[in-house]
Amino acid sequence: MKIVEKDSSLGAQVLDINLAEPLTEENYKSLEQALGRYGVLSYPNQHLTAKQLRDFSVKFGKLEVNVANMYYEPGLPEVMILSNIVENGKPIGLSDAGQDWHTDMSYSNTIAFTNVLYGITIPMRNGKSLGNTEFSNMHAAYEELPRELKKELDGMTVTHDFNKFWEMMRRERGSTRPPLTEEQRKKKPPVSHPVFLTHPITGKKVLYANPGYSVRINELSEARSAEVLDFLFKHQIQEKFRYRHEWQQGDVLMWDNMGTIHNAVSDYRPDEPRFIKRCQVMADKYFPAA
Ligand code: SIN
Repeated sequence: MKIVEKDSSLGAQVLDINLAEPLTEENYKSLEQALGRYGVLSYPNQHLTAKQLRDFSVKFGKLEVNVANMYYEPGLPEVMILSNIVENGKPIGLSDAGQDWHTDMSYSNTIAFTNVLYGITIPMRNGKSLGNTEFSNMHAAYEELPRELKKELDGMTVTHDFNKFWEMMRRERGSTRPPLTEEQRKKKPPVSHPVFLTHPITGKKVLYANPGYSVRINELSEARSAEVLDFLFKHQIQEKFRYRHEWQQGDVLMWDNMGTIHNAVSDYRPDEPRFIKRCQVMADKYFPAA
């Protein structure tokens, strides 16, 4: 296995590995370290069944079954389907997952470690891939915060709410998602996490707030919290912190949700099919439930 660093703030390509085969302990350890260091790893030219994708992903931690997800591989609810394809009048996957800046599962008590996506059909136009996935580096975003703000926010916590992103998609993106039911909301009540998280792999601090789910800095007045969050949301997506993964069919893409935030770019039309299988790995190895 060979890990080739990209010439950007984040990202590396992993070559000479077949993810359909069982992952050795040695390779697992190298990939875990690489996720902390590079934030985003891509594995080109993979050929996986849904079960092989699940078996690779589960090496990194517990797999989440999303409370609101209706689209998954038959018999394997941990393998979610992201797609804009409609068959016989019915969507076969979630068509608008992650289409704005966010961190997966920051609204959960046990936060997410990595997402593992397998690109089966990638929309292309004029020889260029569409529906790319963009990332921003939260180690760098923390480092480059003004010193006074680092001091002010040190030890503070942020509330994250699942319903924020859900409602934003409904309100601003014309999403056909129905409102969350009371039962779904009860399963995912708002939770708090430190605004600066010590990354369990790198041992360094990261900015752990995101525009998708973060709603309030708990220890500040409402007005100051709104002002600071507004600053953080702009600060953390500056171009210099970013990397954009340009999908190719057969790519497996995985990223560290603690050290990055991401955005699924929605620049393709309904007649340009995208079909991706996805596993969500939790950070239970690093933050065991209390
Ligand atoms: C996600 O947020 O997990 C979806 C990313 C993508 O579809 O590119």
